[in-house]
Amino acid sequence: MSIDISKIRSDFPILSENIYNKPLVYFDNGATTQKPLSVINRISEYYKTENSNVHRGTHYLSQISTDHFENARSYIAGFVNSASHKEIIFTKGTTESINLVASSFSKIISSGDEIITTAMEHHSNFVPWQQLCINNGAHLKHVDLEKDGTIDLSKLTELISNKTRLITIAHISNVLGTINPVKEIVEIAHAHGIPVLIDGAQAIAHVNIDMQEIDCDFYAFSAHKAYGPMGMGVLYGKEEWLNKLTPYQYGGEMIKDVSFTKTTFNDLPYKFEAGTPDVAGVLGMEAGLRYIEDLGIENIKAYEDELLEYASCEVKKIAGVKIIGESVNKTAVLSLIIEGVHPFDLGTLLDQMGIAIRTGNHCAQPLMDHLNISGTLRASFALYNTKDEIDIFVKALRKAVSMIIN
Ligand code: ALA
Repeated sequence: MSIDISKIRSDFPILSENIYNKPLVYFDNGATTQKPLSVINRISEYYKTENSNVHRGTHYLSQISTDHFENARSYIAGFVNSASHKEIIFTKGTTESINLVASSFSKIISSGDEIITTAMEHHSNFVPWQQLCINNGAHLKHVDLEKDGTIDLSKLTELISNKTRLITIAHISNVLGTINPVKEIVEIAHAHGIPVLIDGAQAIAHVNIDMQEIDCDFYAFSAHKAYGPMGMGVLYGKEEWLNKLTPYQYGGEMIKDVSFTKTTFNDLPYKFEAGTPDVAGVLGMEAGLRYIEDLGIENIKAYEDELLEYASCEVKKIAGVKIIGESVNKTAVLSLIIEGVHPFDLGTLLDQMGIAIRTGNHCAQPLMDHLNISGTLRASFALYNTKDEIDIFVKALRKAVSMIIN
């Protein structure tokens, strides 16, 4: 099946908007994707006809709500091929998923222990571990990157010691687009008895995610980067690990039994889901993932790879352009700098031409330090983007550069 781009674009109402009287070119999908009507309608339908709290009532609406909520969990478990729906914890997003694990790990990380990460992490997969290590007297080590923005696995292996308690790494870098060899990293880590957490924020909408194949211990992702709503996400955790960890927050839902003197925690997955959940968010997330499944992730990847290759070739024709992140195994993200031009100035001019891209450090300051740059201009693609839009972007980029330089 190939991608029917005009049908897809008609599914996303926002793509017909004009910005400053120019047709919107939306290339900020790494920050958040736009939403198809199926997602917008699912959320609206929930509030119009199903709204009720889940797991709490015997009445009709509560039962319908609960059924749809739990069916969504099972669907998402299938989407990522987890062994059980109990391994799917609903959170506010990737950041909360990682903080949940870091908070629970803070009880098992001792002074002198070590955590390994990389120089390409988003702050969400860096600061929680940095703070945990500071608080517990542990050490956060990181693997530096090769020139093309990849990790040398032998350098990662060299960092492992008998004090290593966790390896935590992005599946895909939000700045470089590098697809990390997560399956191989998990194999190396498990050979040393070390668990692995993967930040899948930039991967969920772009590559096949299979928990049985990757075999990681934790995997975090957000709905809003996969055509679903903001404020919703998932922590996948292997059941054996989730059973070992203490809850992240306390309250309703996550308890089994409470007395004046003690509390027994609920079974998985509820042990980690304190408080009334965002039911509409879960249903919207399901609708976003179903949208991806209907098109087929392999078709999406092939199409986005074509966009990336075309865009990379075209921007390289502009004098002074340097692409940041040139792994042969990358997807959907094109970061660049242009000699003598500040990315922020380019972003401002492109915005006035109706083009939405992101500029700055992309919440990855350690990576910027490592690369010795202050920021990049980042175009990040999704399944509704086109080569025509890339042509508009490249033309606008040329114009913006000449306006700044001349
Ligand atoms: N993590 C998102 C990005 O890279 C917000 O833009």
